[in-house]
Amino acid sequence: MSDTAYKIQEEELIRGDIAGYLNRHETKDLLRFLTCGSVDDGKSTLIGRLLYDSHMIYEDQLEKVTKDSKIYGTTGDDFDPALLTDGLKAEREQGITIDVAYRYFSTDKRKFIIADCPGHEQYTRNMATGASTCNLAVILIDARHGVITQTRRHSFICSLLGIKHVIVAVNKMDLVDWSEEKYESIKSDFNNAVARLDFADIHFIPLSALKGDNVVDRSDAMPWYDGPTFLNQLENVNISSDRNLIDMRLPVQYVLRPNLDFRGFSGTMASGVVRVGDEVASLPSRQQSRIKAIYGADGEQQEAFSQQAVTVTLEDEIDVSRGNMLVPVNNIPHIGNEFEAMIVWMHEEPAQAGKNYLVKHTSSMVPGVLSQIRYKVDVNTMKRDQNADALVAEMGLNEIARCHITLHRPIAFDSYSRNQDTGAFIIVDRLTNVTVAAGMILDRIVSKPSADKAPVSQHIVKSDSLVSPEMRSQLLKQKGSTIWLTGLSGSGKSTVAKELERQLMEQGHLCYILDGDNVRHGLNRDLGFSMEDRKENIRRIAEVAALMNEAGLIVITSFISPYLSDRSDARDVIGMERMIEVFVDTPLEVCEQRDPKGLYKKARSGEITQFTGVSDPYEPPVNPEITISTEQVEPVVAAEQICSALKERSIIN
Ligand code: ADX
Repeated sequence: MSDTAYKIQEEELIRGDIAGYLNRHETKDLLRFLTCGSVDDGKSTLIGRLLYDSHMIYEDQLEKVTKDSKIYGTTGDDFDPALLTDGLKAEREQGITIDVAYRYFSTDKRKFIIADCPGHEQYTRNMATGASTCNLAVILIDARHGVITQTRRHSFICSLLGIKHVIVAVNKMDLVDWSEEKYESIKSDFNNAVARLDFADIHFIPLSALKGDNVVDRSDAMPWYDGPTFLNQLENVNISSDRNLIDMRLPVQYVLRPNLDFRGFSGTMASGVVRVGDEVASLPSRQQSRIKAIYGADGEQQEAFSQQAVTVTLEDEIDVSRGNMLVPVNNIPHIGNEFEAMIVWMHEEPAQAGKNYLVKHTSSMVPGVLSQIRYKVDVNTMKRDQNADALVAEMGLNEIARCHITLHRPIAFDSYSRNQDTGAFIIVDRLTNVTVAAGMILDRIVSKPSADKAPVSQHIVKSDSLVSPEMRSQLLKQKGSTIWLTGLSGSGKSTVAKELERQLMEQGHLCYILDGDNVRHGLNRDLGFSMEDRKENIRRIAEVAALMNEAGLIVITSFISPYLSDRSDARDVIGMERMIEVFVDTPLEVCEQRDPKGLYKKARSGEITQFTGVSDPYEPPVNPEITISTEQVEPVVAAEQICSALKERSIIN
């Protein structure tokens, strides 16, 4: 529809169908954008011009600005659009801190919220606050100066905060004689500067905010430019695909229990779509059920989307509480207590590696440690800080660093690039309760802080062998690997392990079983079943398995290994590819019925404490390479399944 046609239709609507008119306004989509520029780039002028030329200014406001322009303006007797938006400056000068000012306006096509971040020294913190909810960033460049350090810095932070769309406003074109050549060279400089950043689209617009060229109205001075005006671009940039409608995540904020018959779970959908009848799991318990009903602002509904506030009820009584997350059973986020993240430090008191903080993630608050500051990023060059080869002990206000975080209990999370809600967190000081940092979870495999791996003495240097892994694997006709069986006591791990060992031997492969009950008589006889002891048990076994793998052997381990984080540590030691995790998935009731060693009985009677499944937890694998249900398949068949998986991976031939 053309603009005029739209206007006529709109006027008719107002006259004839006021409800329809209001509805159209309510359902217009909303674009949130932020403006980045240094003090003299003309940020205020651009926004002022935008509001003025699109008739978003009230008469009395306008009158005052026209008067003020003559008194304070920098434009002689002309109208100075900057004065429209500089109202807040005064407050700032009086020492009132305003981190981000939000301004609202709307056109026929869209509603807009502008986050105006004052661009002084506190830039990072302000930008982090303003940008985290924005769809688009307007990066201002003064045509006379071109791409400067500040431009790079702003672009980097926008990309870090997940902003996908960029408009580069090349301003003050009037001061470079409307030069196409100048504009083109800025365009190519900018493209080079941000080549490594992750933007979905970048649009360049040559304009003069002061004179109004290409802001709302087309410029006559730059006939060589045939792209959209600034407002056009803001109205038309496509943001519909920005919403993640794939990964359903509902962090539970409240459990509603008005009476005994109703138990609802309320929260704002972080992403995805949920429908009545969907199979969901509650994390971290992983108990499953189906969605029985969904209630939104207007009562019961069949489905709900990302960003909607809803209350859902479930078919079954499962364990769901505040801070838990409902997700689809077939699309589960990472669950763990460790991750790597980019962190923007926002407090005067520096961050300290090794210090305890609180981490607020979706609807839960979990204590944790900033276990390592790996390296700082130089925001000006967007590169890893070269000075920081060794571990970093501290990071100061506005610094950005890649860090390793360890929480005291597991959470369900995605990477920030995939999901800006379940991938983001803030860090809160434990004593003062002040927010000290914002963090973005990275889509990387967590590698352990190297300090953990280093020997106690600093005077130990590794020496290399003259025999390579390839030579060993040629000799033995197999690749040294570890088949890691995990599952409850009595699940059938040892039985499957023995059968697998027999089959592999028969096929001419050298392998060896490490079994909890045996190893705990020797190497690990000093260990019990506390969380720490189990962790140490698994750590030693992983180290032994890694050595045996080095030697070319196939290792089959049979340990309950109940904790996700211990198994993920084992994988770090053994190697990503070398470890094949096999979940021996036998329900607790079945294990307890089998009770081969009579231990469940003793555990129930209290004779044994800390017994997995009874008085201690078991965290099943999230993405095991193989799952075996010993209820359904015989050990022989299970072992055959594992053998074929080994063939597929060319571990054996
Ligand atoms: S793990 O949790 O540290 O991986 P591991 O597999 O080595 O355990 O040892 C488990 C075996 O120890 C069980 O098969 C069982 O026979 C025996 N056991 C004795 N006490 C316990 C207990 N409290 N919890 C689990 N297993 C126990």
